[in-house]
Amino acid sequence: MTSHDFPRFPEGFTFGAATASYQIEGAHDADGRGPSIWDTYCREPGRVLNGDTGDVACDHYHRYREDVALLADLGVDSYRFSVAWPRIQPTGTGPANAAGLDFYERLVDELLAADIAPAATLYHWDLPQALEDRGGWRVRETAERFAEYTALVVERLGDRVDRWITLNEPYCTAFVGYAIGRHAPGTREGRGALAAAHHLLVGHGLAVRALRAAGAQEIGITLNPDRLLPATDTDADRAAVRRAETLHNAVWLDPLFAGRYPEHEAETWGELADGSYRRDGDLDLIGEPLDFVGVNYYRPTTVADAPHTDPDPATRTAVDVRAAESMRDDVRRTTMGWPVVPDTFTDLLVDLVRRYPTLPPVIITENGSAEADTVAADGRVHDTDRVAYLHDHLTALAAAIEAGVDVRGYYVWSLLDNFEWAYGYDRRFGIVRVDYDTLERLPKDSYRWYRSMIENHRKESHP
Ligand code: FCB
Repeated sequence: MTSHDFPRFPEGFTFGAATASYQIEGAHDADGRGPSIWDTYCREPGRVLNGDTGDVACDHYHRYREDVALLADLGVDSYRFSVAWPRIQPTGTGPANAAGLDFYERLVDELLAADIAPAATLYHWDLPQALEDRGGWRVRETAERFAEYTALVVERLGDRVDRWITLNEPYCTAFVGYAIGRHAPGTREGRGALAAAHHLLVGHGLAVRALRAAGAQEIGITLNPDRLLPATDTDADRAAVRRAETLHNAVWLDPLFAGRYPEHEAETWGELADGSYRRDGDLDLIGEPLDFVGVNYYRPTTVADAPHTDPDPATRTAVDVRAAESMRDDVRRTTMGWPVVPDTFTDLLVDLVRRYPTLPPVIITENGSAEADTVAADGRVHDTDRVAYLHDHLTALAAAIEAGVDVRGYYVWSLLDNFEWAYGYDRRFGIVRVDYDTLERLPKDSYRWYRSMIENHRKESHP
């Protein structure tokens, strides 16, 4: 690919790279960090591929300087990382553990010295285990604790971090964690998952207020809205898409950006969606104005009707999630099994703005691909499939901007190969390879491609 192939972005558009605490930090018991639900989940036999855990991960906790140097060499404007709640409050409540805050302060200062703007996610799934023991996101108390934790973090870092993301993909926390059980805490509940979804949004609203009170500049939430396509043009499959729209998208987008709870929730969940976890005033709280919405996008989902075979209504949510996972087989797939269909990225964004006219500006907070990388005889990783994936998705993003969607930035997932949740270290998303025996970092061809693309953007914006 030559520089002529680089998609063009508006002046001021920012490029970055993203990671998350549990996936890269390691140092699971260093400096007073308490256990998170992922530490527990990884230790349960059969949960994570090959029995992998985040105990060491990329050891970013000790190697953050080297990783910031990689970011600096990459030339990104911004770095998205997440703060591990159990480093700040080992049991999820009470005063801050100073050593935990110190780590993020060192990281932020290192970034600023390299002229990279820090973007902090407050919750990327590592809930303190002690809070899960008290009900986790099923209970409202966790939302309140989340706001207290947020206040502690912004008090220390608010003078240096401008961009804040409250939650990462609450869909995964609520439904993959509490309904399908493929993520921590790994339960299969219907009502519990719906209550978790609501309390995550309440926690988000409370955190937004805490951030505003502390004078934070740019506040948003990261969602993973899905581009859902019916498997066939039958009424049954179209109805399945409507249910999947509720489950994947409307649950979050309606209360956040339309001041209402989703229209089709009764059709989707029946008596499980009884709203018993809602309180007056919650919609106002959840609808606190935001400066941006973070969008993570990887792949579309083809949905076919799959009648409930599970007679137990308590697990019906989980059944609906499974129904939503049938996929098209006429395209290339990544090693996640995810179909590569870049123009669905354009369609998703255009449709999002059409459906939610008051949507704030969009920032793509994750996009990338897992590939079967190998180190070639020349000592390099020639990850041509990943380069093509990034090129085609950035081109699709530029098309969405061209079509009028206000997108301000893009973060590639991920800077490093890392702990890919239930897939452990088996699936590699990094533009930098990590050798898990030596922890050595090796930039891949995709890293060099992304660097050239950023360079090209700068040249064109400031010739
Ligand atoms: C997203 C997660 C991120 C990473 C990518 C591949 O759902 O936010 O942590 O695992 O998928």
